[in-house]
Amino acid sequence: MKVTISKLHSYKNNKKITMITAYDALFAKMFDENVDTILVGDSLNMSFYGESDTVSATLEQMIYHTKAVCNGAKNAYIIADMPFGYYQTPQQALESATKIFKETKADAVKLEGGIEKAETIKLLSDNAIAVVAHIGLMPQFSRSEGGYKVKGKDENSRKKLLEDAKAVEKAGAVLLVVEGVKEDVAKEITESINIPVIGIGAGRYTDGQVLVWSDMLGFFDEFKPKFVRRYLNGAEIVRKSVQNYVDDVQNGEFPKEAEIY
Ligand code: KIV
Repeated sequence: MKVTISKLHSYKNNKKITMITAYDALFAKMFDENVDTILVGDSLNMSFYGESDTVSATLEQMIYHTKAVCNGAKNAYIIADMPFGYYQTPQQALESATKIFKETKADAVKLEGGIEKAETIKLLSDNAIAVVAHIGLMPQFSRSEGGYKVKGKDENSRKKLLEDAKAVEKAGAVLLVVEGVKEDVAKEITESINIPVIGIGAGRYTDGQVLVWSDMLGFFDEFKPKFVRRYLNGAEIVRKSVQNYVDDVQNGEFPKEAEIY
């Protein structure tokens, strides 16, 4: 059955919400059997497109992949990331998000930012576009901040995160993603707002967890952030399988009788 935002809201304080990223129909269809929500993250610009950060992702790219995910996943609540540079003003955000909503079946869009994006979140919500806010470590800021920095390590950062969380909730955000934040601060955020908080690298006490699929299934194996748990050695399995195929072809073992017309 299709997961709705009211269903996700009813999980707050009752049941942990599971979210995973997906970028295509094939994997989305498999993930859809288990998870509550699928995020078409702009992380696809790195793991699928091979760029070093998310900054160069385009709206067209996000729409293409969101369409594919929507074709594969029929039940999960689907969230499409707003790419860097397409929501710099509230009006630009409304135009970009409207295009995503018109051209895909996404249930919500996600954007990075707290207080400074409150006006944008309100404008989108007032125009029937559900918004997921993303605070803490915001990958789109990695160039300007000179890397990926864990947040909530001092009192100023803690206060700012709490203010951000409250501001985005007040502006109408339906969910909040909190990334790369000290566990005690993520817990405080989760307890101080009514919308579900989904953590990534934010410890145990958020209302749910999200992981990037290629990290958790080990297809990306160049490095493993501390917060990632690998449930599969995907890259190793693929490499071995492809080597087996190459060996079979070269040894005349493939194709066999049963594989010939
Ligand atoms: O783009 C993405 O995959 C994300 C997750 C890291 C939350 O925003």
